[in-house]
Amino acid sequence: MKALTVIPQTKDSARLEDIDGPPESDGPVLVQTLAVGICGTDIEILSGEYGWPPPGRDRLVLGHESLGQVIEAPTGGDLAKGDYVVGIVRRPDPVPCANCAVNEWDFCRNGLYTERGIKGHDGYLSERYRIQPEFVVKVDPKLGFLGVLLEPTSVVTKAWEQVDRIGGRAHWDPKTVVVTGAGPIGLLAAMLGVQRGLEVHVFDQVAEGLKPQLVAELGGIYHTGAIEALGKDPDVIIECTGVSSLVLDAMEHVGTGGVVCLTGVSTGGRTIDIDEGELNRSMVLQNEVVVGSVNANRRHYQAAAEGLAKADPAWLGKLITRRVPLESWQQALDRSPDDVKVVIEVTPS
Ligand code: BGC
Repeated sequence: MKALTVIPQTKDSARLEDIDGPPESDGPVLVQTLAVGICGTDIEILSGEYGWPPPGRDRLVLGHESLGQVIEAPTGGDLAKGDYVVGIVRRPDPVPCANCAVNEWDFCRNGLYTERGIKGHDGYLSERYRIQPEFVVKVDPKLGFLGVLLEPTSVVTKAWEQVDRIGGRAHWDPKTVVVTGAGPIGLLAAMLGVQRGLEVHVFDQVAEGLKPQLVAELGGIYHTGAIEALGKDPDVIIECTGVSSLVLDAMEHVGTGGVVCLTGVSTGGRTIDIDEGELNRSMVLQNEVVVGSVNANRRHYQAAAEGLAKADPAWLGKLITRRVPLESWQQALDRSPDDVKVVIEVTPS
């Protein structure tokens, strides 16, 4: 079968190749891959900056934002041929740590987790894959192709859960959220903010085109520039860029008792001057929290599926700005400022 593989930590090593069919050891559910979304993490892996191959191998099958259709599943379970499904990304560590032991692998404590298409386990960017039923999430067939947005939505669903849980340490009645970055993660975070009834502000560098339009259609307010220009400090900031200056801007401008949730993975090696005394003082005196959030467990995928089902399908459809056939996978990497989510079609629809 065809698969897009890469030698992690080696730039320009990706190739579309024929590999053996999926190993039985990956699980009894056989899935036909329909589509795989490409995100910043994939670009980092393709650039040689991130990723780990399976043990004893050089190459890793890429792809963690999947949509597929069940070809075969064990009888008596709740999966049947033809079901639309998404594969969960992370697998618990084998020890397991206290969190992985209770299926909170997104909070793995020892770092020995694996992630399909990212860390130590082949991903979903192959014509077929196998998987254990407990790592399969069914998506409503009404969503169709939009089901490919489930994985990124699970990541922001977890982020919102963190915000709510932290906010709930005291009386919590948030009114305003700022989202930094109008990429797929930012826009999906904004969508969930609107679903929560919040006043949603999205900040991005791009001044015109699809991104401002998508935010306006959502009922949000789009800004370029610094958060300070908002004129008030929001209750919640979801930072979706990983850009250090924006991370600091978020920490400086969250409202009293507010929560900053960081979801963007920064590349290291950049340093900037900060008045950390002043930052510390304001965080302490205003009970502010900065929390990092990564990955998602099954509960988040299920809640994300509900969030997607509530959203306007026409709006979600506009997030998928390009579909690229598997043979032309390189085109998925040339991103224009108006691209939001680029998806590789593994099985033509
Ligand atoms: C994925 C997460 C993963 C993270 C770190 C993200 O792109 O969506 O599932 O945990 O990268 O590897």
